[in-house]
Amino acid sequence: MSKIIAVTSGKGGTGKSTVCAGLGYTLAKQGHRTLLIELDFGLRCLDIMFGVEDNIKYDLGDVLSGRKSALDAVAQVPMATNLNLLCAPKTLTSVSAEQIVEICRSVKKYFEYIIIDTGAGINSHVFDIVEQANLILVVSTPDPVCIRDASLMSDEFYNRGNKSQRLIINKISKKVIGDALVANLDEIIDKVGVQLIGVIPDDFKMTVATGKGTPIPTDSSALKAFDAISKRLGGEFVPLTVKTS
Ligand SMILES: Nc1ncnc2c1ncn2[C@@H]1O[C@H](COP(=O)(O)OP(=O)(O)OP(=O)(O)O)[C@@H](O)[C@H]1O
Ligand SMILES: [Mg+2]
Repeated sequence: MSKIIAVTSGKGGTGKSTVCAGLGYTLAKQGHRTLLIELDFGLRCLDIMFGVEDNIKYDLGDVLSGRKSALDAVAQVPMATNLNLLCAPKTLTSVSAEQIVEICRSVKKYFEYIIIDTGAGINSHVFDIVEQANLILVVSTPDPVCIRDASLMSDEFYNRGNKSQRLIINKISKKVIGDALVANLDEIIDKVGVQLIGVIPDDFKMTVATGKGTPIPTDSSALKAFDAISKRLGGEFVPLTVKTS
């Protein structure tokens, strides 16, 4: 039975797609058959993050229109055996929570982890889709607007009965949150109100890769942090270490 994980945030640009790419890659490297489903319609990016933009023959649009089965539209990512991708269509296409559930149902026997990149925004569409997940990963950066939006989003999940949530604090650096790192992280966790599963450093290699449109750098400090989170997802105890510049 696969574990369905929805990656979400209140504010846009917090790093949801980066988190999906990082977790997908590290879970696959750890030997787990992993599928990333990208719901950021019209804003496809995971194909570029894995350097496979020229290899994508089909996407979710083909599945929603009935031209292809979900499994047929899945592309294998050469960067990591076990890593698979179902890309968002390049154009805006409407999708219902029921359709996503049906897609997950049709492929879940083939994958241990299904990770859904929900796209940004507090709207009912995202809530309906996220409700189908076994675990919600709320991504926030340390800035106050992002923290408040993450808290609002998470409260709404709790109100709807979604208690299985974990927080990822992304793009942390001493420059932004100061030298009293642990105390400041504690304050962020308190404000968002969700148990922490990991912190990701602000990693210049990651920014450069996005800027150049090259694949995610596998030797980056961010990837090490994703590796730890992936192990925690599997129930392994990995102590929190925070390396920032
Ligand atoms: N840990 C990190 N270190 C450095 N840069 C990062 C990190 N995480 C994300 N970024 C950068 O932040 C930008 C936004 O990241 P990303 O596209 O993953 O966010 P998103 O939440 O998916 O955005 P959207 O809401 O538009 O879908 C990108 O330029 C990405 O490279
Ligand atoms: Mg995104």
